Amino acid sequence: MCDSKVNRCECVNKTFEQLKVYESFEAAQLATQCGTECEGCIPYIKLMFASNEYEFDIEDPRLSAYE
Ligand code: FES
Repeated sequence: MCDSKVNRCECVNKTFEQLKVYESFEAAQLATQCGTECEGCIPYIKLMFASNEYEFDIEDPRLSAYE
């Protein structure tokens, strides 16, 4: 199945829903190392904290604010 939605940090295998339990991007990163490998998920995780959504289109137009 082809799923083009982004809903996790692939490198540490944590879903955005799992990361949302932390207070902030920085706290989530400290606890799980999310965003420290390929770094591709960083704008999505920041958008997740800002929007309270857990999955995003790869080209969500809101990402530009977090790159
Ligand atoms: S997908 Fe999150 S660091 Fe690679």
